[in-house]
Amino acid sequence: MIKGRKVILDSIQEQDLLTVYNIIQTEDVGPALSTTVKELNLASLGKFLFTTEPGTECKVFVIKYNDEVVGFVTLNNIHTIRHNAYIGMIAIDPTCKEKLLGLNALRTIIDYAFNYLNLHRLYGHTFSNNKRMNALYDRGGWIHEGTEREYAFYDGEWIDREIWGILRTEYKG
Ligand SMILES: CC(C)(COP(=O)(O)OP(=O)(O)OC[C@H]1O[C@@H](n2cnc3c(N)ncnc32)[C@H](O)[C@@H]1OP(=O)(O)O)[C@@H](O)C(=O)NCCC(=O)NCCS
Repeated sequence: MIKGRKVILDSIQEQDLLTVYNIIQTEDVGPALSTTVKELNLASLGKFLFTTEPGTECKVFVIKYNDEVVGFVTLNNIHTIRHNAYIGMIAIDPTCKEKLLGLNALRTIIDYAFNYLNLHRLYGHTFSNNKRMNALYDRGGWIHEGTEREYAFYDGEWIDREIWGILRTEYKG
């Protein structure tokens, strides 16, 4: 269990899968995470969350607020020799009205990655039309490292994907 200022991150358990699945099924969350989300079902959810490159590890946490699961965050491609990892997904249940949970969960996982896992670099991808997540990275001091043009085709159009990165020495907390 990792304690943030506002949220707690807990390793995902089997009984959390349905809640996480229901969050992903919402219009606000699913398409922001993946253009292949329509193929996802409850049976394939574990594989979807724990996707990681060969030779790397992966951790999946539920985000808890007031003892309730309100979202999830994944740290994928954890490379213990290169000391880097990927913020694969982060999501907050859109029906949860409490503010700043996403921001707090992101800060909590960054603290954990740099100060507990001793990582040096984190990176994340987000679709260009995802204003909220791009703002979260930008305002959090992440560096915009590039744009993958026309990365995916979704709902009849090509969409770009932004690459964000942050080094341990750049992170202000
Ligand atoms: C993206 C997402 C996780 C953000 O979480 P959230 O709980 O909605 O957002 P928060 O309330 O924590 O924070 C966002 C706000 O903090 C602001 N903020 C971001 N970084 C900040 C910082 N370092 N300091 C102060 N404020 C900051 C943002 O500008 C934003 O302000 P606004 O409410 O005026 O728009 C959430 O909207 C979500 O689940 N979206 C769908 C899934 C998704 O897009 N995931 C990302 C792709 S993997």
